[in-house]
Amino acid sequence: MPSALLVLASVLTVTTVALDNGLMRTPPMGWLAWERFRCDIDCEQDPKNCISEKLFIDMADRLSEDGWRELGYVYVNIDDCWSSMERDKQGRLQPDPKRFPGGIQKLARYMHDRGLKLGIYGDMGTHTCGGYPGTPLDKIKIDAQTFADWEVDMLKFDGCYSNSIEQAQGYPLMSKALNATGRPIGYSCSWPAYQGGLPPKVNYTQLGEICNLWRNYGDIQDSWDSVMSIVDWFFENQDVLTPAAGPGRWNDPDMLIIGNFGLSMDQSRSQMALWAIMAAPLFMSNDLRTINSGARNILQNKMAIGINQDPMGIQGRRILKEKSGIEVFWRPLSKNASALVFFSRRNDMPYRYQTSLRKLSYTTGSYKIFDVFTDKSMVLKDSTDFVVSVNPTGVVMWYVSAPKNDTDMELT
Ligand SMILES: *[C@@H]1O[C@H](CO)[C@@H](O)[C@H](O)[C@H]1NC(C)=O
Ligand SMILES: *[C@@H]1O[C@H](CO)[C@@H](O)[C@H](O)[C@H]1NC(C)=O
Ligand SMILES: *[C@@H]1O[C@H](CO)[C@@H](O)[C@H](O)[C@H]1NC(C)=O
Ligand SMILES: *[C@@H]1O[C@H](CO)[C@@H](O)[C@H](O)[C@H]1NC(C)=O
Repeated sequence: MPSALLVLASVLTVTTVALDNGLMRTPPMGWLAWERFRCDIDCEQDPKNCISEKLFIDMADRLSEDGWRELGYVYVNIDDCWSSMERDKQGRLQPDPKRFPGGIQKLARYMHDRGLKLGIYGDMGTHTCGGYPGTPLDKIKIDAQTFADWEVDMLKFDGCYSNSIEQAQGYPLMSKALNATGRPIGYSCSWPAYQGGLPPKVNYTQLGEICNLWRNYGDIQDSWDSVMSIVDWFFENQDVLTPAAGPGRWNDPDMLIIGNFGLSMDQSRSQMALWAIMAAPLFMSNDLRTINSGARNILQNKMAIGINQDPMGIQGRRILKEKSGIEVFWRPLSKNASALVFFSRRNDMPYRYQTSLRKLSYTTGSYKIFDVFTDKSMVLKDSTDFVVSVNPTGVVMWYVSAPKNDTDMELT
C-alpha cells in the first residue's frame, strides 16, 4: 500500500480531536429531504411530495421495510421549510400545524419505534435559506432545548442570513447548547460552506472539536455536472480536507442523488464509489417509494457501504490523474486492506487502463481483490500488469485485502 500516504494520513489525524458526544464514529447514513423535495409546501396540490409528516413517515416505512435500516441507513432528516412562520408564545420554534399536525416529538417517536433516528434543520441567522424563522444568537439555547425536548437525534445548522462574525460565535455556541441539553444530538455545520471551505477562513481543527460533520462546499443538484464540480473541489483540496476527517468528524460533500433523474447507472456507481472513498456521510435524497432496482442495488451495495464505514475513518485520496482521463483513488482501510477506484472522465468508449499494483505504490506481495460492483474476485501479485475496463463517466471499484507473501499465499 502507498505507505508514505498512510503515514502522512495517520500523523495528521492524531492532531485533531472529535466532538465529544460519542456519535457518528463512522459516517452517518440515512435520508435527507432537501435535494429531491426542496421547499415543496403545496400539500393541497401535491400531497405525496410536499414537506409534511407524511413524507417522513413514508420514508421511515421504506427504510425499515426495504432493507435499508439493516445496512446502516437510519437517519430520517427534515430539511428547510418544516416550521411555522411564527414562534410560539414561549418563543419556541414550532412545526407548521397543517403539515405536521402530530408535532415533531411524535415523529421522533415514530422513528425510534422502528430503530431509526430523526434529524431536523435550523439556521444560524435571522431566517432559514427558505425564509422561515432562523436561530439568531439569542435563540440558540432555547432552540437546542426545544430539539432535545422533541427527542431529535441530529441537527443540520445552515448559515443563511448571518455574517461571518455571527457564525464564528453561533456555531460553537450551538455545539455547547446541544451538549448542555444532555441529549446526544449529531451536529452538522454548514459554516465552512459559507466561508469558502478553506483555511485561513476555515479552521478544521476547531470544526472537528465542535461539529460531527460539516458542509464544505455548495449544494448538490440533480446533475452529473454538479457531482463532478463537487468531486473536483474535494480532491483538488484533499491535502486540507483529508486530515480534518476521522471518527466523529466528517467532511460532507452533500447528498447522494442516486435514484433521481440526473445520473446514468455508471454515474450513480461513480457517486457511490467516490463518496465511499471520501468517507462521506451517506444521506440519500431520493424517493424511496418509487426508486428503481438498479439505483437501489448501487445504494445497497454492501461492500461499498463497508468501505465507506471503515472504522479507521481515514478519508481517501486521488493518487493519480492520467492524461488519458483515467484517475485513480485510494483509501486505506482497517486490517491492512484498502480500496481503489479507477474513474474515467472520458466520453468515448470503455477505456482499457493498464497498470499494476506496484505502479500504484503497493508493497511486494499477493493481494486478493474483490470487485465491488461485479462481485468477482481474483488474486494479483504487486508486479502483475492488469487491465481494467472503465466506462465513460464510470468506475471500477476494488476492495484490496491485506498483502500476503508468496510462501503463505493460498490461491482459493
Ligand atoms: C458533553 O461534553 C462532555 C465533555 O466534552 C462529554 O463528556 C459529554 O458526553 C457531552 N454530552 C453530550 C450529551 O453530548
Ligand atoms: C484553530 O482552532 C484550534 C482549536 O480551537 C485552535 O487551537 C487554533 O489556534 C486555531 N487556529 C487558528 C489558526 O486560529
Ligand atoms: C499490517 O501491516 C503491518 C506492517 O506491514 C503489520 O505490522 C501489522 O501487523 C499488520 N496488521 C494486520 C491487522 O494485519
Ligand atoms: C513470508 O511469511 C512467512 C510467514 O508469515 C515468514 O516467515 C517469511 O519471512 C515471509 N517471507 C517474506 C519474503 O516476507
